Amino acid sequence: MDKGSPKAILLKDYVAPAWWIDTVDLSFDLHEGETIVTARLGIRRNHEVPRGPLVLDGQELELLSVAVGSRPLGPDDYACTPDHLTLNDLPDDGAVVEMVTRIHPESNTALEGLYKSSGNYCTQCEAEGFRKITYFQDRPDVMATYRVRVEANRQAYPVLLSNGNLVDQGDAADGRHWALWEDPWPKPCYLFALVAGKLVHIEDRYRTRSGRDVALRIYVEPGNEDKCGHAMESLIKSMRWDEEAYGLEYDLDIFNIVAVGDFNMGAMENKSLNIFNTKYILARPDTATDTDFLGIETVVAHEYFHNWTGNRVTCRDWFQLSLKEGLTVFRDQQFSADMNSAPVKRIQDVTRLRQVQFAEDAGPTAHPVRPESYIEINNFYTPTVYEKGAEVLRMYHTLLGAAGYRRGIDLYFARHDGQAVTTDDFLAAMRDANPDRAVDWDQFRRWYAQAGTPAVSGEGTYDAPSRTYRLTLRQTLAPTPGQPDKRPMLIPVSMGLVGPDGRDLPLKLAGEDEAVTGTRVLALREAEQDFTFTGVAASPVPSLFRGFSAPVKLSFDYTDADLTFLMAHDSDPFNRWEAGQTLAARLLLGLVADRAAGHDMIVPASFVDAIGQTLSRAGEDPAFTALALTLPSENYLGQLMGVIDVDGIHAARELVRGTIGRSHRASLLATYHGNAGQGAFSVSPEAIGRRAVKNAALAYLMAAGDGEGRALALAQYRTATGMTDVIAALALIADSDMPERADALSAFAAKWRQEPLVMDKWFMIQATSARPETLAEVRALLSHPGFNIRNPNKVYALIGAFTGNAVAFHAAGGAGYEFLADRVIELNRLNPQVASRMAKAFARWRNYDAERQAAAKVALERVAHTPDLSRDVYEIVSRSLE
Ligand code: PHE
Ligand code: ZN
Repeated sequence: MDKGSPKAILLKDYVAPAWWIDTVDLSFDLHEGETIVTARLGIRRNHEVPRGPLVLDGQELELLSVAVGSRPLGPDDYACTPDHLTLNDLPDDGAVVEMVTRIHPESNTALEGLYKSSGNYCTQCEAEGFRKITYFQDRPDVMATYRVRVEANRQAYPVLLSNGNLVDQGDAADGRHWALWEDPWPKPCYLFALVAGKLVHIEDRYRTRSGRDVALRIYVEPGNEDKCGHAMESLIKSMRWDEEAYGLEYDLDIFNIVAVGDFNMGAMENKSLNIFNTKYILARPDTATDTDFLGIETVVAHEYFHNWTGNRVTCRDWFQLSLKEGLTVFRDQQFSADMNSAPVKRIQDVTRLRQVQFAEDAGPTAHPVRPESYIEINNFYTPTVYEKGAEVLRMYHTLLGAAGYRRGIDLYFARHDGQAVTTDDFLAAMRDANPDRAVDWDQFRRWYAQAGTPAVSGEGTYDAPSRTYRLTLRQTLAPTPGQPDKRPMLIPVSMGLVGPDGRDLPLKLAGEDEAVTGTRVLALREAEQDFTFTGVAASPVPSLFRGFSAPVKLSFDYTDADLTFLMAHDSDPFNRWEAGQTLAARLLLGLVADRAAGHDMIVPASFVDAIGQTLSRAGEDPAFTALALTLPSENYLGQLMGVIDVDGIHAARELVRGTIGRSHRASLLATYHGNAGQGAFSVSPEAIGRRAVKNAALAYLMAAGDGEGRALALAQYRTATGMTDVIAALALIADSDMPERADALSAFAAKWRQEPLVMDKWFMIQATSARPETLAEVRALLSHPGFNIRNPNKVYALIGAFTGNAVAFHAAGGAGYEFLADRVIELNRLNPQVASRMAKAFARWRNYDAERQAAAKVALERVAHTPDLSRDVYEIVSRSLE
């Protein structure tokens, strides 16, 4: 940064604005080369705070005129700086402030504010993009009703959209036309949206529970109309589910979605005009994988659910981001669990949480779910705010039960509809709706305030004569940046005791009259706490944190035999999976240690047998089996080590995979064939599960270098019609040294070069290969005609995927780090948000060996010394170097 270090914004400095803006009247005159924006703001003094000037935010705006009422202002009447427009002496009883500004969407590469994607205009205002459109108090506690007029050339931009209802439209001179939109619901400016373009749409209808007829439209570029069906179905399912599960209905007669190819994030919940990354709308069986289909269902639901959790009730300030995001992620997780297999969904969510959120919580960018300071708010759309935030919501649900949780939700809306509120307001609603529940809410609140992942350890002892079982649990929370001392958390431990016959024992704590059968929730509140169960007939194996009831790291003194037992018998499917993962991680880290000590790595037969058991049950639940067969990832295993042994982890994991592939060749082939050829294509959970287990089996055969496995992969690649199977086979081939590799990759690119989303997969599988050539190939792909560094999806598919490639990115010598530094520096000028997301891959550099640390530091410092470093990248890099 040239003008000194950028300043941090603090939660404790929050003050309400001196003026409210109740009405916003916008007029957009879209021309090639420039857009003229006229804004009329109906302002009113906020009498609750001392009188002050009206300070409007603005960035990269050219101010053409300002007026108050009908009185034009001269340059002496206001102060205009690069970031603000300040008006003094406004009348106490309110006024209309009118401003005209000029902006240039065609040269906007940051994709924030008004910009162009494939020739169409679109907006992105969250978090602070509205200030790039006009001067405004760009903060979420300023809520207004909007009236928006959009005018553009009719031929080039036949579709003109904004929030709310279309109230009028007409023709203008010079082949132009206009549309007038009105949104009756007051909203913060980050929910404003506008679209103008050459788009086609598909349409459906939904009738709400109370009889409102809603027109549903999905707009896409011509040629994509046959890829919108799944998104539309997902939208309708979401609308119905929110009525049934939360009692929440849609509140307008129209709901529009627009899909654009250039978008920094997944999607955006603008009121009645959601704007989506095409990745989360477009899908056809031959172009999209099962993961894509499921991602679309979840993201469409997520944005729809924001209509209540985010839009009707919004955030007072950006420190409260998790108020809407944690809650809405929890809601979309509940929805997807209901639409598909709940245990499978939970396992996938926890896997992701551990992989990305636990990593964040353990590094230099760790922050609480409700942060206390930021330099650039765009850096806080994080796994902590989203995914850990969702875990906090799940803990309310676990502690209060479904009915108590719902009472809290109902009270939250009864109190706060139409308001901009805080996470404390949410907690208060949950508390006040459940006065009979003995929850220590002040302790619970620490989940919002303390960063880091609590570590829970413990052991159990069974006393046969007294038939008691004593469970001891301890919790610690390591210091995180800015938080040296932590206090114990209120940790809900959903648990059971599994008897020798594999069944749950009745649970009765000392002093209780009646036993609970199955699962119960203990509250771990102290640094160390004992729970004594009485009337325990036989020595049990405890099953702890069922369903992953709290975002903690558990280390319990299980024997390998205990874990194998839980894998087979736990009544909780999540913990059956978890036991297998714990066992696998233990084994893999043991091998890594052996290798580091110069010993041979020997895969124990007991583990290979356990995998064989899992495989033999593939027919019962294919989707679950696919997950149970998957070993912990290299990145996750790295988190479990003090100093990450990059090559050791890879070698151990590959050895185990190869051993499994060889040892279980026959049953893997049987599993493969037994789940292939399923008739008509479907994305039902059953069909997805069968494809998943089939491809998991294929991956093991390939890991063993099996000739028949290779032939199957090639045949599958060549003949499969669904993208899931095509890409699964191609990824395996691309990660191998098969002679057909090059041809297969180039045939795929030739077939799909016109489909950017499909090409993203092609970039990704090359960037994630563990082959030593990967970095060189990724470098070469930067100049492939299908790659474009200005398109975020391309950056994520090639550069982002490469940074997640544990062996290649962290290869000894530091070439991966150097490569990333170059890309971050390049992106910094074009798109700071994307640059900073890429820079986050450096964050855990201190967990590697001295040589890698030295290389990473050089790369990070090179980024830090780049002229004109954006606030986004500055914040990440400076924190990483602290
Ligand atoms: N609010 C969006 C969501 O969670 C994410 C987003 C943030 C999109 C910022 C764009 C910009 O769905
Ligand atoms: Zn969201």
